[in-house]
Amino acid sequence: MSMIAVTGATGHLGRLVVENLLERGVEPGQVVALVRRPEKAGDLAALGVQVRHADYSRPETLGPALQGVEKLLLVSSSEVGKRAEQHRNVVEAARSAGVKLLAYTSILKADTSAMRLAAEHKASEEGIRASDIPFVFLRNGWYLENYTGNLAPALEHGALVGSAEEGRVSAATRADFAAAAATVLTGTGHENRVYELGGDESFTLAELAGIIAEASGRPVEYRDLPEEAYVGVLAGLGLPEPFARVLADSDRGIARGELFTDSGDLRSLIGRSPTTPRAAVTAAVRA
Ligand SMILES: NC(=O)c1ccc[n+]([C@@H]2O[C@H](COP(=O)([O-])OP(=O)(O)OC[C@H]3O[C@@H](n4cnc5c(N)ncnc54)[C@H](OP(=O)(O)O)[C@@H]3O)[C@@H](O)[C@H]2O)c1
Repeated sequence: MSMIAVTGATGHLGRLVVENLLERGVEPGQVVALVRRPEKAGDLAALGVQVRHADYSRPETLGPALQGVEKLLLVSSSEVGKRAEQHRNVVEAARSAGVKLLAYTSILKADTSAMRLAAEHKASEEGIRASDIPFVFLRNGWYLENYTGNLAPALEHGALVGSAEEGRVSAATRADFAAAAATVLTGTGHENRVYELGGDESFTLAELAGIIAEASGRPVEYRDLPEEAYVGVLAGLGLPEPFARVLADSDRGIARGELFTDSGDLRSLIGRSPTTPRAAVTAAVRA
């Protein structure tokens, strides 16, 4: 029986991929949810999928976890700074286990982007290519949830703050990125392809402020700040400074066009238009 495994299955994206595979009719017993904390995976086990312990930082867990796996989705780790090494561990284990297809959630334009967040993705893509395992790079753009998940400060202050100038973002929902991953894991002909994934309707942060204002019926304007000043605002909101710096640096990447794509790859893979920014913001405001 050919098995499909998903890492980070207790995370937001991994969980959506597992659910999407089951919705497509993949037998639960054929799906392997790889998790670093099996105690968090009770609901996944209740779906009938196999739950296996796999910690990116503990190579001894990875070999047994990948036994019999034909296709693997490596959801990039959330531990920024440790990711290149963690992903190397997974790729090495996948090679030893004879995995036939390794899909990896990367970042838009990983090979050319100057964003700090892109460096570990670039290194990971290079490591995967060097492994000779047939691969698929799912270069995900920004999640719409990065914005819709926390609209309260913008609504409260009537201002969306950032450092992205007039740069355009091709964001999409996690559910749409998950559907693209499930297409690749269940389909054929994706070997050694690189997909630049983003929503069809890109926006500037000023346009996003307009969408939030319209959906909420409250005034919201975009206020562009120099990078250091934006770091200060984020730190003032309680974010740890290193994380504030990564976010501000990402906005500078947006200003350079590094989170924009007009490839249409997401639409092609999911076979429909991705959820629009307006629909996602409207749903978040109602919620
Ligand atoms: N495109 C974007 O806008 C965007 C935004 C944020 C992040 N990302 C990237 O996309 C990935 C998936 O996004 P998400 O929203 O699903 O993030 P998430 O909810 O934080 O999920 C990350 C997953 O990685 C797992 N993980 C972390 N360290 C691990 C380790 N040492 N061994 C095994 N698993 C480990 C976590 O396990 P636990 O469940 O045990 O914590 C979690 O399941 C993130 O990890 C990050 O690389 C992209």
